[in-house]
Amino acid sequence: MNRLVGKRALITGAARGIGLAFARTYAAEGAQVALADIDVQQARKAAREIGPQAIAVEMDVSQQDSIEAGVADAVARMGGIDILINNAAIFTAASIVEITRADYQRVFDINVAGTLFTLQAVARHMIGQGTGGKIINMASQAGRRGEPLVAVYCASKAAVISLTQSAGLNLIKHGINVNAIAPGVVDGEHWDGVDAFFAKYEGKAPGQKKKEVGEAVPFGRMGRAEDLTGMAVFLASSEADYIVAQTYNVDGGNWMS
Ligand SMILES: NC(=O)c1ccc[n+]([C@@H]2O[C@H](COP(=O)([O-])OP(=O)(O)OC[C@H]3O[C@@H](n4cnc5c(N)ncnc54)[C@H](O)[C@@H]3O)[C@@H](O)[C@H]2O)c1
Repeated sequence: MNRLVGKRALITGAARGIGLAFARTYAAEGAQVALADIDVQQARKAAREIGPQAIAVEMDVSQQDSIEAGVADAVARMGGIDILINNAAIFTAASIVEITRADYQRVFDINVAGTLFTLQAVARHMIGQGTGGKIINMASQAGRRGEPLVAVYCASKAAVISLTQSAGLNLIKHGINVNAIAPGVVDGEHWDGVDAFFAKYEGKAPGQKKKEVGEAVPFGRMGRAEDLTGMAVFLASSEADYIVAQTYNVDGGNWMS
């Protein structure tokens, strides 16, 4: 505990799921946290539940004006940003012959451009602040290999891994570490949607896809958001100062690289 005392963290997509678990854990470790989300009502509720060291910030990471306003709001209210978790993302699935350009564009605007330009806005702030920082991008096992029905999301997460490498190499001279976490299958509302898609597409009973992916994890079950928080604290701490441009699998053994 108390590994992040005095740190100020901005976490995108923190109104629910993994981002919310990160926000709770960071607050418990002593950090101030800004929960940035397109669903600001839910982010406000979550921030209230966490307590006085949490604030909610309205941010749509697919919109440049919204990124800049959200980052400025977090800086003004917390006095600065030392840690960014680029966590906001959406999932989509379709057979190759059914992918639409609009769907592709929306996923890339949020998952890829959202990651890059939030990282850029915060990196500019961190460089000005002059005390370095930690940036953590949320990748996925989906970025490690393609899947027959998940081409666009997989490609977006492969792009996040690549951006982590380039940004990590570019920003370390400013004392800013950029790394990523690649989860496997993590239960929650995101996976409720994935399960519903496969129920429709593959004629599975509701819950069947989740059961199958959970059983296939070498650890023996799907992940929980809390399984990822240890890595998120470690990568944000000074213990990770010498770690640059890496993507860590936290997936119960699903992927080895
Ligand atoms: N759940 C999994 O199995 C899994 C696996 C691998 C990677 N991931 C990644 O982990 C991260 C968190 O996943 P999760 O399961 O908690 O997802 P989730 O869908 O439960 O939560 C995503 C959050 O992002 C917010 N969001 C969506 N679009 C936004 C936008 N344009 N601007 C700002 N906020 C926006 C949503 O409102 C929501 O609060 C994502 O990057 C996801 O791709 C999840």
